[in-house]
Amino acid sequence: ASKAAGPGAYRGAKGNGFAKNVYLIFVMHYSRVMPPEGDHRYFTSTAVFINEVIKLAISLTLALYETSKTLAPSTPATVLFEQIYNGVFSSDGWMLAVPAALYTFQNLLQYVAVENLDPVHFQVLYQVKTEQILTTAVFSVFLLRRQLGFKGWASLVILTIGVCIVSIPSSEKTADSLLLHGVPDHFFPRSKHELGQTVAGADIPEAALHLSRRSATYEGIAKDLPPADPIMNFSVGVSAALISAVVSGLAGVYFEKLLKESSTNASVWMRNVQLSFYSLIAAFFGGCVYQDGAGIQEHGFFEGYNSVVWAAILLQAAGGLLASLVIRDADNIVKNFATSISIVISFVVSVWIFDFAVTLPFLVGTSLVLLATYIYSVPERKLHRPSPVRIVS
Ligand code: C5P
Repeated sequence: ASKAAGPGAYRGAKGNGFAKNVYLIFVMHYSRVMPPEGDHRYFTSTAVFINEVIKLAISLTLALYETSKTLAPSTPATVLFEQIYNGVFSSDGWMLAVPAALYTFQNLLQYVAVENLDPVHFQVLYQVKTEQILTTAVFSVFLLRRQLGFKGWASLVILTIGVCIVSIPSSEKTADSLLLHGVPDHFFPRSKHELGQTVAGADIPEAALHLSRRSATYEGIAKDLPPADPIMNFSVGVSAALISAVVSGLAGVYFEKLLKESSTNASVWMRNVQLSFYSLIAAFFGGCVYQDGAGIQEHGFFEGYNSVVWAAILLQAAGGLLASLVIRDADNIVKNFATSISIVISFVVSVWIFDFAVTLPFLVGTSLVLLATYIYSVPERKLHRPSPVRIVS
């Protein structure tokens, strides 16, 4: 049976969403666009693979610890490993292959999205994420037979509208603010070096570069500059983000079903061991062999790795493990509320750090997000409080 979402679950959920939206996207993007140290940028499939290795190591350690507590102190270690082995390969462990394949596909797509959108357009990632709010609800109704009722659906629609409004793009302002606050050059589609080479065949003065960037438009770089950098493609970025959001919603609900409705009652760590095990296989064959096989053979598995790449991988692994805890203690719908609130928080942080303007749409959107969260979390009877009973003497 699913556990009720307590306030702790909300806090944890918020933490997950925040880390994911604020840090992960920036670090992932930076890792994809910063100039490579060697002659080639790292292969994203290897990052997805390593992410799974880290999650497997942590989940396996915790699953071993959990299982050891259920055994007598003198039980030999082989019995412990046998229990874990049975957990992964017998009973319904194989069913995790489905969310594993979906999540691996999503993780690979996420890299495609962040490398094709620059920070000026990151709002798009948030807007696209709103699609996940309603699709997750639909998947929850069909796969988990969850009943949302009018209150539930109304709050989800308000939430979707709220996040869309909060993240209405105001790209020029955003670009200016990011530039004025010294966000590294490489966050932008063209590094100073690349621009200098393309425009004049030589280095161009910083002021001119700054002015050209100031006129950056929603579609890409300004008209007076050559066409947008071939390594960035706005529509590819948006499509990847859209597909990734739907796939993640489906995978999350499927994972929740296996975690909460299975008769084997496997713990979240055991489920994570199973998930990572199958994800490793998917990431290896789908990513490292099929997607990047030729490149990896030529340049090596760890080509282009540096501290930023490792930071992106570690943040993703931490985000994934936290997501599983949120799904256990609350559910996927609550996770989306948390993500939405984190989007609002990330804009508040941007106002603070990058001097983003507080606009009317931002205030309206934020109010809607908070209203939706209130309506969703408040018990039905509070919304329809019975009229006071009149005592007739
Ligand atoms: O963006 P969203 O929150 O839907 O992404 C969920 C992320 O959490 C995915 O990247 C997925 O790989 C990860 N995850 C995980 N382990 C789980 C559930 C989700 O690593 N048990």
